[in-house]
Amino acid sequence: MNLLALSGSLRARSSNGAVLRSALTFWDGPATTADIGALPHFNPDLDGEGATPPAPVAALRTAAASADALLVVSPEYAHGVPGVLKNALDWLISSGECVGKPVAVITASPSPSGGDHANAQLREVLRMVSGEVVTAACREIPAVGPKIDPATERVTDEATHADLGAAMAQLAAAAAAFTTP
Ligand SMILES: Cc1cc2nc3c(=O)[nH]c(=O)nc-3n(C[C@H](O)[C@H](O)[C@H](O)COP(=O)(O)O)c2cc1C
Repeated sequence: MNLLALSGSLRARSSNGAVLRSALTFWDGPATTADIGALPHFNPDLDGEGATPPAPVAALRTAAASADALLVVSPEYAHGVPGVLKNALDWLISSGECVGKPVAVITASPSPSGGDHANAQLREVLRMVSGEVVTAACREIPAVGPKIDPATERVTDEATHADLGAAMAQLAAAAAAFTTP
């Protein structure tokens, strides 16, 4: 089963990037991480009938079309979804590649809230993209800093690591149900 992953952080040493990489180790199949930083700002004028979408948009849509499930891992900025991630999701709203596909949302933050505002907002936006949000696969990871080894940039906190495995197992089960109706 194919997984498409999106990270809401463009930072080189992103804690959410570390969470994403750790989560992917539990995925038994091909996984692609989208380069959402390459996307232009969403503009429906670039996407009208007969228009050829910009190449990074076409690449994102191709990856989404061949995915059996989506994993979104993101920080929270100003109690909201990072603009770069919302921009990527906006490009996926009208094109339909995500319809019915299982999606997991994981937010990680240095704060005790675990990015709960962004997590809730992402679930809502993904429902609008017609993804099937798998609640049992969603996680908010609070106080993420010491849970990551800066040398390997992976989650090393044992409980968090195990819980990521449980979340990914839930996503895989939903993806299997989606691909074999
Ligand atoms: C401008 C700005 C706003 C932020 N707002 C929030 C916030 O509302 N909630 C939160 O939990 N963390 C907030 N943070 C802290 C981020 O969660 C933190 O920088 C995190 O490490 C970013 O994720 P990353 O390591 O994956 O890049 C903010 C950080 C910045 C720079």
